[in-house]
Amino acid sequence: MKSVYLPGDHERGRWMRLDAARILKRYFFCERALILSQAGWLAAIASFDVKTILPTFLWQDAMIAHALRNRVFELRFPSRMMEIGDDAPLIAVFDAAQDAPSAEAYVLALARLFKPALLSAYREYEQLADDLSDGPILRELRSAIIEKMEQVAALTGMAQSMMQAAPERAATAEAWVSALGLRLMQVGGLSVEPPKPARDQTEFVGRRSYQLAEIAARDPRFHRCRYYWPDITDASFAYGTGIRLQLRSAVSHVNEVWAVETGGAILRAFADELGWEFIFDAARWTYDESRHTRMGYERLKTWGYALDEIPLGSYIYDSARGQDPVIRLGMLHYFETKNIGKKTKRAEAFASYQDKLSQHDMDFDWADETIHAAYGHRWLDALRELRPDQVPDIDTLRQRCDELVGREVDAATDADRKDIGAVALAMIEKAEHLP
Ligand SMILES: [Fe+2]
Ligand SMILES: [Fe+2]
Repeated sequence: MKSVYLPGDHERGRWMRLDAARILKRYFFCERALILSQAGWLAAIASFDVKTILPTFLWQDAMIAHALRNRVFELRFPSRMMEIGDDAPLIAVFDAAQDAPSAEAYVLALARLFKPALLSAYREYEQLADDLSDGPILRELRSAIIEKMEQVAALTGMAQSMMQAAPERAATAEAWVSALGLRLMQVGGLSVEPPKPARDQTEFVGRRSYQLAEIAARDPRFHRCRYYWPDITDASFAYGTGIRLQLRSAVSHVNEVWAVETGGAILRAFADELGWEFIFDAARWTYDESRHTRMGYERLKTWGYALDEIPLGSYIYDSARGQDPVIRLGMLHYFETKNIGKKTKRAEAFASYQDKLSQHDMDFDWADETIHAAYGHRWLDALRELRPDQVPDIDTLRQRCDELVGREVDAATDADRKDIGAVALAMIEKAEHLP
């Protein structure tokens, strides 16, 4: 029978705003789960590339998650509720990623399961959504589609090389990813439809409850050591000028791996307590530290240093072993920003050596550190407000950090000193004889 009204049956009318919000909210919680596990796993990953590239991915994920969350708030105005709700069976599978039996299994699951799931979900949404009503988030999703494609390609290569380096862990990693994949299928995967409850409630094979690696894994291709330059344990060894300053600065930068690991550790540790705004800041913080690390690495590579000539120390990360994560937050805030005033002077020194590359890296690093100083204050204050009895004031915390690192430095043995002395001298000598 002919309707008395004009027809409105059009694909543009598929979703109302609350339908769209429900789907975008689901994507947000998936991203959030992966941001937390990527951050938490950084310390346990040995490969230098994976350790310093994964932070780029988790920062990209934080950017799209942030946009998704804001869009959900816009669509549900005035509600600011973000609840897992019906998506619980799906988010439980994404959360389980963090309990991987090994770093290889974790990265393989990202490459094969979780990142491709997000990629195809975003593609599906992009195809079905209406550009007119949903344009603001579609722009963000289109960027995320490109990023996720790049992430999947990079992570696939990373997983492959990690498994080749540790073939004894390959079978467990494969079994882990199959188990997660099966469960993801059972809950209906990640799509525009809500998930189904998991029929199968059995535990995943190989599941190991997530724990922060208190001893950081480090790439065996580098010269691994406790102290990464002689002046750390020997006050008579000058920080130096000229070639020595160029090297010291590049070695300091590459040794910011501890800051990458610490950024990841605190993101994971305080995510629930401090909430999304903290996760968003900590993702950027961790990403920045990974860029600083790679700045030093790239400079040393440009100057012709092989990986086994570059010292990669552990003492700062080690000095927080077994401590409350507040200490790690304090360390990251304090040790990364206490030299901020020296950075502009160093940049000037590099300019006077016509070393534009070191000058450039130091210059950009300075801008990042000023952001980090604000992060440190903001989140230490927030923690202190939540737990005034447990979180010390900033001066006490700095003093505690100094004591802990001082204790680690005092533990240096003659063998440690000899080792780093020889590495540093070899680097200096090589620099002096460069053509
Ligand atoms: Fe840094
Ligand atoms: Fe920093």
